[in-house]
Amino acid sequence: MREVLLNFLCCPICKGELKTVKISYIDNEITSGYLLCKQCNMVFPIENGIPNMLVKQCFGLKNTLSKVIYDLYAPIYDPIESRLMNAIGFSEKILRETIVSRMNIKNDDCILEICVGTGANIPFFLRRKCRMIVGLDISKEMIKQCLLKAKRLNWKNVELVLGCAEYLPFKSNVFDKVLIGGAISYFSNPHLAIDEAIRVTKPRGLLVIFEQLTILEKLLRRDLIPMLYKPTNAKLLSFEYLFRKNIYIATFQKMSL
Ligand SMILES: C[S@@+](CC[C@H](N)C(=O)[O-])C[C@H]1O[C@@H](n2cnc3c(N)ncnc32)[C@H](O)[C@@H]1O
Ligand SMILES: [Zn+2]
Repeated sequence: MREVLLNFLCCPICKGELKTVKISYIDNEITSGYLLCKQCNMVFPIENGIPNMLVKQCFGLKNTLSKVIYDLYAPIYDPIESRLMNAIGFSEKILRETIVSRMNIKNDDCILEICVGTGANIPFFLRRKCRMIVGLDISKEMIKQCLLKAKRLNWKNVELVLGCAEYLPFKSNVFDKVLIGGAISYFSNPHLAIDEAIRVTKPRGLLVIFEQLTILEKLLRRDLIPMLYKPTNAKLLSFEYLFRKNIYIATFQKMSL
């Protein structure tokens, strides 16, 4: 991780300021060490350049299950997802370009993708001129795949964080655009996750939520989640279904302070 990420990070629980302890660097990048919360004294390790901001509160039943499943799925996620999308008749490239276009990214924007996974949306952010892209995920193995890709493709300005959507380790009002990149139906607490995503979004910034809807999710009306938990300090700009209602994209704007 680069030092610049420290300007964005805070304690996921008490949101207190962090200080660095026993930090090692290679080529100006922090590779290992600890982050200590000045307020509650919680300690977060940095391993292979990735801060691990996971806390026990992240691991409700559904999040634990997601973590286990995605840790196993990580090495084959990219080829399988792409084939699955082709098999049900939509192009992954068009889908990801459509999602990212809804974020209306401007030069110098700071972007957060919650549920970044293996980073399949990142090339579409990089086509725009963002100042910084931060990807967060609960699965260590998904983040590991993303890190390998980042190194192989020489991604610039991309930072990765291990953490969960419900307890974001970021200061308030710091990201211009935030994406919840799939899986909200499977969060332990989607309501808290949406509130957290809006908290870290700058006033007038955008939160985009997309989700793939399987038959079960359609039956359970999981597409209603964004509206059901819409924060009072955000307005819904658009809600659209794509690919024969197999995907929805909801776009919210955070109100001015
Ligand atoms: C379907 S994948 C989407 C990955 C990526 N956004 C994409 O479009 O390819 C869902 C991701 O959400 C992550 N995830 C699930 N629950 C989470 C939570 N509560 N907090 C953070 N990440 C979570 C999983 O580990 C997984 O990597
Ligand atoms: Zn703390």
